[in-house]
Amino acid sequence: MSQTAAREKPGTLPGSSGFCRDLVAGLKLSPKTVSPKYFYDDTGSALFDAICTLPEYYPTRKETDLLTRHGAAIAAQIGPDVEIIEFGAGSVIKIRHLFDTLDRPRRFTPIDISGAHLHASAAVLRADYPGIEIRPVIADFTQPLALPIRDDARRVGFFPGSSIGNFTPAEALAFLTRLTGVLRGGGLLIAVDLIKDPAVLHAAYNDAAGVTGQFNLNLLARANRELGADFDLDGFAHYAFYHPVLNRIEMHLISRRAQSVRICDEIFEFCEGESIHTECSYKYSVSSFQALARAAGFTPVDVWEDGWMSVHWLELQD
Ligand code: AVI
Repeated sequence: MSQTAAREKPGTLPGSSGFCRDLVAGLKLSPKTVSPKYFYDDTGSALFDAICTLPEYYPTRKETDLLTRHGAAIAAQIGPDVEIIEFGAGSVIKIRHLFDTLDRPRRFTPIDISGAHLHASAAVLRADYPGIEIRPVIADFTQPLALPIRDDARRVGFFPGSSIGNFTPAEALAFLTRLTGVLRGGGLLIAVDLIKDPAVLHAAYNDAAGVTGQFNLNLLARANRELGADFDLDGFAHYAFYHPVLNRIEMHLISRRAQSVRICDEIFEFCEGESIHTECSYKYSVSSFQALARAAGFTPVDVWEDGWMSVHWLELQD
């Protein structure tokens, strides 16, 4: 899941030791599994930005369209003088839609694991919106957050990009429940990708230009770069499909042949056809997401959707 660039994803820990530990542990599971948070090094972030512009990858375009078309209604729900906290903010592009429509937004707290990217984006925003206090926080937002307490404004969470889909439903529930503590008395504006024609979903994760495949394979390239692993990139193939019962896209890297790979001083054997499961991207109906939000303690108040993507406004009592 994306934290930087135009992506919004679940966070990752800096440094290679966490990557080494998690990769080795994941490859000992059956099926072999790697967390999607490791997609997003600089190369992966750039590839994700490219995915967002692909004709088949509708989520970014559809979400931007909803935020633009319903800007006034969204602003009316959110109200004046708020502090906006964006989770996995990256290059903070979508927040501009809120800045341009909200009534006197007071403060913006973007949270992202990638400090350099975040500070650069914050500097640009400060120049463009001098009336808004911008205070970036470098943190893994998937972990418990200790945000600087300033109780002078209502807190509004912003979680765009349908990154909630990269959590399992249980993880999504735990994450949303944790947000209820951070956002008490305020609310959450969150984009959620909708269940739709499996052929459309399949195309979105199997683009003709092969960028999603490069993005997936970059995980192995990253292990080679950062950990000195010896993955043969030609020995693995991108494989993505929609599971219509679990309502999720699954992305895998499939070993094209029997092979062994050295990673962090350990040898891993792969059979021909064996998978490394790299990502799930869950899709929801409006009502199934609202049920999840209610279970976490939010009150769903409004939703804007076009059959492709949904943007929910969820509120919290004091
Ligand atoms: C970041 N996240 C919401 C994207 C998604 O659609 O699940 C990541 C992605 N994976 C492949 N393409 C895009």
